[in-house]
Amino acid sequence: MFAVRALHDIHLEVEPGEMLAVCGPSGHGKTTLLNLIGLLDTASAGEVEFDGKGVASLSEAQRALLRASTVGLVFQSFSLVPVLTAQDNVLLPLQLRARLTGAERKAAAEQAAELLARLGLASHVRHYPARLDAGQCQRVAIARALITRPRLVVADEPTSRLDSGFVRMVSELFASYQREYGTTFVISTRDQRQLARATRTLQLADGRLLAAPADTARRPLRMHQ
Ligand SMILES: Nc1ncnc2c1ncn2[C@@H]1O[C@H](COP(=O)(O)OP(=O)(O)OP(=O)(O)O)[C@@H](O)[C@H]1O
Ligand SMILES: [Mg+2]
Repeated sequence: MFAVRALHDIHLEVEPGEMLAVCGPSGHGKTTLLNLIGLLDTASAGEVEFDGKGVASLSEAQRALLRASTVGLVFQSFSLVPVLTAQDNVLLPLQLRARLTGAERKAAAEQAAELLARLGLASHVRHYPARLDAGQCQRVAIARALITRPRLVVADEPTSRLDSGFVRMVSELFASYQREYGTTFVISTRDQRQLARATRTLQLADGRLLAAPADTARRPLRMHQ
C-alpha cells in the first residue's frame, strides 16, 4: 500500500473575521488543508485546535456535532443531494442542527428561498440538482454553507464554475456575512477577484506553505472564534 503525504509542516492560525485565501496549483494540497480546517478529516500527524481545544480527542460524533454547529462547507464538487430540491438542499444544515417544528420549518424554507434569490436562483428553488447546470449547483452549495450563519465558512474553489457577474455576487455576499455576522472565511481559489478581497493569502506548493508570514510560523493549526 502506498501512502500519500499531502501536507508537510503546516503551521497556521486562523483569526476570527478573517477572509483567508489558499491558493496553489492542482494537487498541491488545498482541499486536504481545507478538509482539516473544516473538521471533515483528521490529520495523521500534528494537531488541529478549534477555539484553543485539540480536536483529535473528539469522537466522530462529537466532531460531527461541532462541525454542524460551527462550520459551513462548500465542497469542490458541490455534493448536493440529488433527490432533494435546491431549497431542501439548502435547508439540510438547519435540520441537522435541530428538529424543526412546522412553523420553524416554514420560516427556514423562506430563509432558504431568500438566500437562493440573493444568488440569482429565485426561479430554481424547486429544481432538482440534475436540472441545474454546474454554476447553479455551485450557488446552491454556497447557499447551503451560509444558511446557518456559521462562525466559519470553509469554501473549496467556490466560484470555479461561475462567470464574473456571479463571482462578484458571491464575493459581495461573503463580505456582507463577514461584516454583519463576523463570519470567518477560509477559501481556496484561483480567482484574482476573490484573491483581491482576501485579508490574507497563503500559497501552497507540494503540500507546504510558501512564504508563511513570520507570525504564523511554528504554531499548531488553530482556529480562534
Ligand atoms: N483520498 C485520497 N487518497 C490518496 N491521495 C489523495 C486523496 N485525496 C487527495 N490525495 C492526494 O493528495 C494530494 C493533494 O490533493 P488535494 O486534493 O488536496 O489538492 P488540491 O490542491 O485541492 O487540488 P485541486 O486544485 O485539483 O483541487 C494530491 O497528490 C492528491 O492526489
Ligand atoms: Mg482541491
